[in-house]
Amino acid sequence: MSSFKTSLKKNDIQEGKLTRVDVNNNSLVLTNIQGKLYAMDSVCSHEGGPLEEGTLEGYELICPWHNGIFDIRTAKASPKTDWVTDLKSYAVIVDDTTGEISINTD
Ligand code: FES
Repeated sequence: MSSFKTSLKKNDIQEGKLTRVDVNNNSLVLTNIQGKLYAMDSVCSHEGGPLEEGTLEGYELICPWHNGIFDIRTAKASPKTDWVTDLKSYAVIVDDTTGEISINTD
């Protein structure tokens, strides 16, 4: 298991907001939905749109460029926009004491 500490703490990731973080040469987007943190690739699989500038509707992350939809929990492309392909999601580890966020990149 390879986990990488980020410069972020849990309180930096606001409910429903999208935050980009670079971890081990991967650009990721993080969010907080109902107190749980999710992380997935931030570069859209269609034409490379910046998903951290997209829109979150429930668990659907909508790309700002052509409205491709991904499930933020799994990074899978929505059947509604099957012209985008699946990305990768990552486990988020929060230190209970410090709130520091690490990402498991396996
Ligand atoms: S670049 Fe994301 S849908 Fe086209």
